[in-house]
Amino acid sequence: MSMARPIRFNAFQMNSPGHQSPGLWTHPRSDSERYATPEYWIELAQLLEAGGFDAIFLADVLGVYDVYRKSVGPALRHAVQAPLNDPLALVPLIAQATTRLGIGVTAALTYEHPYTFARRMSTLDHLSRGRVGWNIVTGYLDSAARNLGLERQLGHDERYDLADEYLEVVYKLWEKSWEDDAVRRDRANGVYTDPERVHPIEHVGRYYTVPGIHLSEPSPQRTPFLYQAGASPRGMRFAARHAEATFVSAPGKAAVRRYVDTIRAARRAEGRDPEQLLVYSQALVIAGATDAEAQARLAEYKRHIDVEAALALLSGWTGVDFARHHLDDTIEYIDTDAGRSALASLSTADPERRWTVREAAEFIGLGGRGPIIVGSGAAVADQLEAWLDETGVDGFNLAYALPLEDMRGVVEHLVPELRRRGRYAAEDLDGATLRERLLGAGPRLAPDHPGRQVSIEPATAPALPSAA
Ligand SMILES: Cc1cc2nc3c(=O)[nH]c(=O)nc-3n(C[C@H](O)[C@H](O)[C@H](O)COP(=O)(O)O)c2cc1C
Repeated sequence: MSMARPIRFNAFQMNSPGHQSPGLWTHPRSDSERYATPEYWIELAQLLEAGGFDAIFLADVLGVYDVYRKSVGPALRHAVQAPLNDPLALVPLIAQATTRLGIGVTAALTYEHPYTFARRMSTLDHLSRGRVGWNIVTGYLDSAARNLGLERQLGHDERYDLADEYLEVVYKLWEKSWEDDAVRRDRANGVYTDPERVHPIEHVGRYYTVPGIHLSEPSPQRTPFLYQAGASPRGMRFAARHAEATFVSAPGKAAVRRYVDTIRAARRAEGRDPEQLLVYSQALVIAGATDAEAQARLAEYKRHIDVEAALALLSGWTGVDFARHHLDDTIEYIDTDAGRSALASLSTADPERRWTVREAAEFIGLGGRGPIIVGSGAAVADQLEAWLDETGVDGFNLAYALPLEDMRGVVEHLVPELRRRGRYAAEDLDGATLRERLLGAGPRLAPDHPGRQVSIEPATAPALPSAA
């Protein structure tokens, strides 16, 4: 691993007043309650673009955090990822206000049909000129499943089986339904699209039947840039197969190092280049003009940590109602049908570190499950370089305590320092797709990606007749 690898940043955000630092919305300098206004997202996106971020990355869930005390009360009172607006609607807004910034959006495939979802993402890829990414998630909240017609969510591993078929469907729609030269826009001959070059996908599977063609014409990336964050054994197999970038959240380097080694080994087992996968690790960076200024901000933020709010978040992630435990109990790992890695990261992932419920709540109450890295630009840069060199990650998914203040601290104090050290991505050219910027090759999925490998059997997928 070369010492000169650039350090990459995403801004980890959500279309909600509260994301990874529950309680911090009460800080007098917090802007997070502006989340429902266009001005907030435009200001934030332009700041991130000026700071050379890879992307703004928008998390999402489709339910409420009601595992803690079996009630939605704590989540509502403390703005624990509620209220929560649709992230996809932000894409055209952000795209219009920027020219380079990637826009990663989370969408849970469990609850939306692949046929309609594929068109929605193609539309966003067109409107952003190829800057959209999709964080493929399977959900972890029973509260989402209940409101979408199920008694409870599918079992943990079955969600990934469904996800594999889902991706097969959307790959067929995005990659194989329309040939590159299907759209002619030939005014003289009166042919907009050549029907012989548009193919029905004839998909019949265990979960989905989609006989027809994709409704959208090919967008710049066709398949949006693919992010994933599965961290259980089944989740990592899924991520290794489909993802072009993955996310990990863990409190320390040991657990992150272990994740990186495992995901790259899983990638190798898929027969693909393990270095062609970007890994972003979650962190809250508090960068100031001086160490003292940054430390003062941290001390202030800590006064706004809300333990009950943090437990509502942790209970939702893990499916374990922490109201039924004493604050001084040690957290033990159990399998649940929620996400599995959140609990693992606070129990089995680092054998050197044991957490009580209180310690975990105070820890995740500021910046979620990632580390907090504080100081002057130079001090933070030293620590991030050590993270890259010791864990093998490519960059960081930056959570915030105060969204604009913390991102401004990074852009003003840390980014110039990383540039001086030659450890920040070079200025990008306008007009590149997200995939070209992040992976350096073309706008399309790599030829060995499973999305390029799907076939719509010629026998079952004849060209449409050219005249009716
Ligand atoms: C940084 C990060 C961001 C995530 N964002 C979301 C999200 O927005 N929505 C969601 O449903 N799951 C999200 N997840 C959860 C993952 O999709 C996955 O369910 C989780 O890591 C647990 O992995 P497992 O399901 O393999 O146990 C995120 C995970 C990480 C590490």
